[in-house]
Amino acid sequence: MAILSYYLILLLASVYVLCANTVPNYPSPQGGRSTSPVDDDWNVAYEKAKAFVSDMTLIEKLNLTSGVGFKGMGRCTGNTRDIPSKGFYGLCLQDEPTGVRGTDFVTVFPAALSAGANFNRQIIYDRAKAMGLEFRNKGVDVFLGPAVGPLGTKELGGRNWEAFGTDPYLQGIAGAETVKGIQDAGMIAVGKHFILNEQGTKRTQVDELVDERSLYELYVWPFADLIREGVSSIMPSYNLVNGTYSTENGYLLNRILKNNLGFLGFTVSDWWATHSTRAALGGLDMDMPGNIVDLNHVYNGGDFPLFEDKSYFGANLTLGVLSGSIPIERIDDMATRIMAAYFKTKLDEIRPQRGPPTFSEFSEADTGYLYLPVGKGPVVSLNEHVDVRTQYSEDASYNVAIEAITLLKNEKNTLPLNDKKKVSRISVLGRAAFPNPYDQCLGDGNKGCSLEMQQGAAMMGGGSGTAQSTSFITPFEAVNERVRRDKTSMRYFKGSNSSDPMFISTATHSDVNLIFAQSFISENQDLENDTLWYDADQVIEGACRVNKNNVVVITAPGPLNLEKWIENENVTAVLYTPYLGQVAGKAIVDVLYGERDVSGRLPFTIAMGKQDIVPITNVTHPDPTIPREALDDALLNAGLYVDYRYFDHKNVTPRYEFGFGMSYTKFNFSDIKVHTVKVLSEQLPPPPG
Ligand code: BGC
Repeated sequence: MAILSYYLILLLASVYVLCANTVPNYPSPQGGRSTSPVDDDWNVAYEKAKAFVSDMTLIEKLNLTSGVGFKGMGRCTGNTRDIPSKGFYGLCLQDEPTGVRGTDFVTVFPAALSAGANFNRQIIYDRAKAMGLEFRNKGVDVFLGPAVGPLGTKELGGRNWEAFGTDPYLQGIAGAETVKGIQDAGMIAVGKHFILNEQGTKRTQVDELVDERSLYELYVWPFADLIREGVSSIMPSYNLVNGTYSTENGYLLNRILKNNLGFLGFTVSDWWATHSTRAALGGLDMDMPGNIVDLNHVYNGGDFPLFEDKSYFGANLTLGVLSGSIPIERIDDMATRIMAAYFKTKLDEIRPQRGPPTFSEFSEADTGYLYLPVGKGPVVSLNEHVDVRTQYSEDASYNVAIEAITLLKNEKNTLPLNDKKKVSRISVLGRAAFPNPYDQCLGDGNKGCSLEMQQGAAMMGGGSGTAQSTSFITPFEAVNERVRRDKTSMRYFKGSNSSDPMFISTATHSDVNLIFAQSFISENQDLENDTLWYDADQVIEGACRVNKNNVVVITAPGPLNLEKWIENENVTAVLYTPYLGQVAGKAIVDVLYGERDVSGRLPFTIAMGKQDIVPITNVTHPDPTIPREALDDALLNAGLYVDYRYFDHKNVTPRYEFGFGMSYTKFNFSDIKVHTVKVLSEQLPPPPG
């Protein structure tokens, strides 16, 4: 009997597996088709959304599902159309990772990777809520973040600094706290970029191949945490996954997101990442910014038709419905999902009190045409310069920055520098300490700062993740201020030439050299190499030749190579931090001087050499000349063994492992009893293939 039931269970299990593998990815599951047992807010939101959508015309529904075009056709990064019969003005979707993009009087917050380095839920939550309130008070409805993809699999990936770190659990917890903070502030949060958006190079063409287990255990995992937290929107990415664009990938959007994970919000494409009207069937609910642009053509030097009136989700979607190829139920679901997100975050209560956006991302003028790029429409107020900065934002930024700074090396109790008798002559070295001569590099990606113009301390990376600086405390300014207060003395040298007599003099005659180094990266690119900018390796080595006490402070978007000098005994201490926003210098100097303990932990592993990092791939899709099996895809090779998993699996010693970070506190251990455990944890079977 026991054997019989054993076989019965096996039979049922295999039928289940067979069925599970043949579950169709269509039709797109309808949001709110059953009530949520765990989140009554969604139930109430769906009731309201269904009622709202029930008497709308097809055109009105489509006004919700597509943007108006770009570059000033609306005030925000993305804008949906109005629905006049309902007195509903279009939604404002605005970027994100460091603050409200493209407007003045906002706080530039530390980057998400800095929040990840905190490993501190409350501080992560406060950063998000403070940011969310600034967005809300500028008139934004949809906050285009947080990013929990890229995961950081490719160490040189250009957007790793916009997410929380190379571990799905950390990404998930930090991402979920961030969603909570943003949505508690009354904004729709958008989890992005779904999925495998691991590199900037050829980001609109790259095809990431992934096996099912790695997909779920590494990349989907953090999105599952966001969904559990009630995230109202998710953004499919530019790239393809296993041969299909994310934005029209029924397996990813219909099956994984909306079916398996029970996602109740709406999906919104990354900007011009939609490739077809049938994306609606694949599970895409909103197309942004709404017009059709071939980004591959643009990236290859082609022109950029910003407001061409062609849209996959406008007229083409109307035709799709009228011709019967797109069911009207799908359109109803798209509109209902968007409105459910709106009611869930209580925008119906917030918007009447607060009004529409008070800024235009695309103009600095006070007034201008409503439809800027075509010079049409009434002249309206564009920028009201509303100051949304608060003490809460300032405190949240400072706390994130302090807790992101990570102590990697501290010989001979060099840090903190609080003994004036030991350290009264201080020299500041390294270009990364000083203000950038180009103001436009301190913010808004629209203002044309090229990589070449990055010539000073960075408060954030570049691209859509920027916010406009109102004031920035550079490391130089903060050291200067501290020295003035302490009545000690400071010299500095801005250049990188370590044989310059002035460099030698400045670096020699000091009690300590504070050497600032960094690396910078912007969206749509990846780091070209893993070395420090502005020849900082030479500066460090030069200083070590003439002085025995050199403290190195590195600001970076991810792991960099420290091998040239890390073991040099004259490098007495090393601090490492992701971008810290406008308070960077103050936070670093407060930690250097022990005003606050140092408690950051690395949100990624720092390898010793290039052989241990996952390369950026140049393989793109579709390229019919390359047989599928011949594609040398980096991710597939990485499989499950990403970051510390790789080092453990291959038994490779990293320079500093994920989670590494010391403090100034001293611990005494006594009477330690050690029991050896043979099997530390379950061994993972090798990934398939
Ligand atoms: C980025 C998104 C961003 C969008 C709107 C895209 O290029 O990948 O993260 O939200 O632009 O600016």
